[in-house]
Amino acid sequence: MTDAMDLAFEERGSGPVLLFVHGFPLNRTMWIPQLAGLAKLRTCVSVDLRGHGLSEDKDPSDYSMDLFADDVARTLDGLKADQVDLCGLSMGGYVVFAMLRRHPDRVRSLIFCDTKAEADSPEAKEGRDKTAAAVREKGIEALIEGLLPKLVAPGCSDTVKASIRDMFLTVPPEVAVADLIAMRDRPDTTEQLGSISVPTLWIHGEDDQIMPIEGARATAEKIPGARFEAIPKAGHMAPLENPEPVNAAIAAFLKG
Ligand code: MLT
Repeated sequence: MTDAMDLAFEERGSGPVLLFVHGFPLNRTMWIPQLAGLAKLRTCVSVDLRGHGLSEDKDPSDYSMDLFADDVARTLDGLKADQVDLCGLSMGGYVVFAMLRRHPDRVRSLIFCDTKAEADSPEAKEGRDKTAAAVREKGIEALIEGLLPKLVAPGCSDTVKASIRDMFLTVPPEVAVADLIAMRDRPDTTEQLGSISVPTLWIHGEDDQIMPIEGARATAEKIPGARFEAIPKAGHMAPLENPEPVNAAIAAFLKG
């Protein structure tokens, strides 16, 4: 397997580390409202997964959630952070599950945002292949047309939509294709939920069109003691669409 690499990251604040992992096809800047709002409580670190943002390896052949998790663990070594509060959105949540499988000793607490534990169904796998083919043919424009409108709640501001579009446009098409294949092939983690033993918060946009909130609530109920926070006026990109209640929920969780 490919060696783990150091990831580019943005850091703000002081104290124990709270590390954020972005979704698909995004980068570290999606967490700027959290870095701004939570820096008084933690050293907030937002990474760019390999190939994304400022991280290297734009010519991917073997991306996987496991490799992404190994990169996060190596980056934590560089930060001299033995244990962190770990937060991931959607694909970032899949990376958080991989961290739990591969580096459980590095996790002090968990924050899942708009993600899921189930593997892709056969139909979803087919959908990944079709999307990958569309990106190969039309580039990132295929995702801007097909995915971006589903990421946000009705009524989302033009500023937030524009910032998501800008993130999409920084991702090389080859990287987006490699992400899609890696997500298609990720394992199911539902069996793991009952044995999670660290404090866990699950945050979910009430209007998430990609991962409906009722399924998320049912998943969170399988994690012993997990807190669940429904975020109003937000879709799949809850931390960016409505940061105040997201930051308040994370702050209350960390203080508790
Ligand atoms: C994401 O937001 O990271 C993706 O929509 C996740 C997925 O497609 O499974």
